[in-house]
Amino acid sequence: MPTSSFNVASPAVPCPVVESLDAILPEEPLLMMGAGPVPIPAAVAKANTIVINHLGATMVKVISQVKTMARYVFQTHSKWVLGVAGPGSAAMEMAISNLAWEGTRVLSIKNGFFSGRMAEMGRRVAAQVSVLEVADRSVAGLEQIADAIRRERPEIVTIVQGETSNTVWNYQLKDIAALAKAAGALVIIDAVCTLSTMPLAMDAWGIDAVITGGQKGLSSIPGVSLIAFSDAAWERVKGRTAPNAHWCLDASLAENFWHNAGYHYTAPVSGVLALHEALRLVCAETLEKRFARHLKCSVALQEGVMALGLQLYAPKECRLNSVVGIEVPPGLSPGDVCAHISRQHQVEISGSFGLPIVRIGQMGEQCREHNLFRTVHALGRTMVDLGVKVDLPAGVAALERGLSGGK
Ligand SMILES: Cc1ncc(COP(=O)(O)O)c(C=O)c1O
Repeated sequence: MPTSSFNVASPAVPCPVVESLDAILPEEPLLMMGAGPVPIPAAVAKANTIVINHLGATMVKVISQVKTMARYVFQTHSKWVLGVAGPGSAAMEMAISNLAWEGTRVLSIKNGFFSGRMAEMGRRVAAQVSVLEVADRSVAGLEQIADAIRRERPEIVTIVQGETSNTVWNYQLKDIAALAKAAGALVIIDAVCTLSTMPLAMDAWGIDAVITGGQKGLSSIPGVSLIAFSDAAWERVKGRTAPNAHWCLDASLAENFWHNAGYHYTAPVSGVLALHEALRLVCAETLEKRFARHLKCSVALQEGVMALGLQLYAPKECRLNSVVGIEVPPGLSPGDVCAHISRQHQVEISGSFGLPIVRIGQMGEQCREHNLFRTVHALGRTMVDLGVKVDLPAGVAALERGLSGGK
């Protein structure tokens, strides 16, 4: 009789006693108005409850539609759209690790926390990374970028469209991509927070890789992301001689699932179905109307916040609309504000990696009028409760004026 060292009656690690989710989660769901994840529409939530075979005819149809819809959202005709089982960072790492390897010259334009992450990922694949450091709350000038390109002769340039951390918008992407192209470099854009919230035209702007997460502008779930490579980028992926050290993120292996109906790893089927529904809703709305909704809501929110008497963090000329940064009044910490608004008003907003700000998202389902009124009211009341003098009626009135077009 074989003996086992596993004592069934009294295992070395005892069976834990934990609380059910019902006991842990708040009775009323929090309104997710931070920097992501964001609220998801009912169709997305429903799709996320379904499990189907990750291979076979139904999945092939789903994947085909996801790619078609993603091409519209990325504004590309490129065939090379793929999904990623992982957060936005996995899609960033997929872009970098497939296009850069030992010795590749990468220029990273760094406006803050997330654009710095792309540089870090480049270093980890042993690329020769140079960083163009941009002062907080500003964007790099085109001359400065042109100089850096002349000096560093990059094969790849990385940049973020919306630097969620300090709420700066790199509004000159088209011109930056043109400078990089003219110097023969491929351009990788992090559009994790911005995709479908503001214009981005992958083909027309000459971008070679665009990445996004699910949990922000698309209003899908976190953990399933998207990437698109241009033909030129795909050629580089296929032409590399050293294999990608990241097996899961190897685009050539992922091609098997995303383009050849084959197996790479077991896809997160429920998340892919959720993403399908999120993209379908974007297509139903159209990009044009979606951008207009985001713009109107974000600007009205900004006006409401300023009318409360609070200051916005990013200057107007490079202020991101997808996530709004608000300076925390002296004497308070971002944690105080976030904790109070969550506990007392069931509204979740974000701090930001050590900066003295709180952030309110304007991505996907966050850009709904009823969510904005609740958020501005909750923020104003939080300030009052925490001893800050604000003009709450003026804030709500300014929001209303912004949403109704000043009527
Ligand atoms: C601009 C930007 N890039 C990358 C990321 C990373 O995405 P994830 O947290 O899904 O890995 C984020 C997340 O907030 C982001 O805002």
